[in-house]
Amino acid sequence: MSGMKHKIRDERLSDNGGRLLKWAEDHMPVLMSIKKRFGVEKPLDGIQIVACLHVTKETGVLVRTLMAGGARVALTASNPLSTQDEVAAALVNDGANVFAWKGQTKDEYYDCINKALTFNPQITMDDGADVVTKIHSDADMKYSIMGGTEETTTGVVRLKAMAAKGILKYPIIAVNNAETKWDFDNIYGTGQSTIDGILRATNTLIAGKKFVIAGYGHCGKGLANRARGMGAHVIVTEVDPMKALKAAMDGFEVMQMNEAAKVGDIFVTATGNKNVVTKEHTAVMKDGAVLANTGHFNVEIDVKRIIESARSRLQIRDYVEELTLESDKKVYLLADGRLINLAAAEGHPSEVMDMSFANQALAAEHIRHNAEMLKPIVYDVPKEIDAHIAKLKLETMGIKIDRMTEEQEEYVKGWSEGTE
Ligand code: ADE
Repeated sequence: MSGMKHKIRDERLSDNGGRLLKWAEDHMPVLMSIKKRFGVEKPLDGIQIVACLHVTKETGVLVRTLMAGGARVALTASNPLSTQDEVAAALVNDGANVFAWKGQTKDEYYDCINKALTFNPQITMDDGADVVTKIHSDADMKYSIMGGTEETTTGVVRLKAMAAKGILKYPIIAVNNAETKWDFDNIYGTGQSTIDGILRATNTLIAGKKFVIAGYGHCGKGLANRARGMGAHVIVTEVDPMKALKAAMDGFEVMQMNEAAKVGDIFVTATGNKNVVTKEHTAVMKDGAVLANTGHFNVEIDVKRIIESARSRLQIRDYVEELTLESDKKVYLLADGRLINLAAAEGHPSEVMDMSFANQALAAEHIRHNAEMLKPIVYDVPKEIDAHIAKLKLETMGIKIDRMTEEQEEYVKGWSEGTE
């Protein structure tokens, strides 16, 4: 057990954090119904969870849910800039072991993960797979872990690579791949919160701008639709022909980044890959171009080399750095190329995290109940859990849907009826 119980910015922020948590709770009815049941059934009784998630008010509601279910939680941030310090303080007040503050250095970030791991996880929760990777980087497995969950696409890609190489040592549930997660959080959550981050950082006008989005996965697609809705002319860049085709048929202009770089006003990376926007691109950009990233890691914009290529740098306002290039043109780098929605804004809204984190809570319960049967591979969230969350969410939204008649159920199961 760790000597240190928590390390956060300021415990005196806990009242403010409590109010933020209340706001989130009031907008996360599905997770709150799970919390209520967990409080009675205690499915996670005595289980130590080590979670590496963005420490936001929504994560706070998840942590409270897990604790209501009987778990002990050590929480560390999944990004150096995404922690809401008030929430961290409120969770410490609730009895969670939180190691996170906004504005960590890279060393502090990993040091906090190490501190959280001294709590001997039985279940891990990751957003980006940094905890699983840390655990696997030690030669011998010190912990007895029954399973883990993964919140985001980038993390699932990393974990599947580990599983394919046969080095994954315990089962992971890919929460990201639940329909009630990625069809909503990745699309509507990322779409809205990325715009929110750009606007809070710059207050720039979106209407009439050439808005370049690198990557047309679920996140890029959600963002493209929101930017279009605000009057931007959206340009998509892609490496995947299928996704490029979808973007084109969804009505977006598709071109190579080399060309987009010359015409764009705002650039946002959402690829999960590295060096997508480089100094060769910034060299041909228009004066005043804005660069932001909404992918999980800060590798999509080649920040280091772009900064090296600049003549001077000036922090204009929070999260906005002006880089004056050799040509005298300026580009504006937002949030050091870290994910803009969580650095400059509050991440996805509570209503959408309601479903993502309902999946997390129910996946943890699933791991607890099925630990013996699970192998060290990456699993999808069981379909029943996904469907249950969709049903609950609709109910909380006051939406009723139709039911198939018996005759219709027979019809869709059968094969013999054709053209009438
Ligand atoms: N990822 C994206 N938005 C988030 C939020 N509000 N809380 C936790 N993780 C997130």
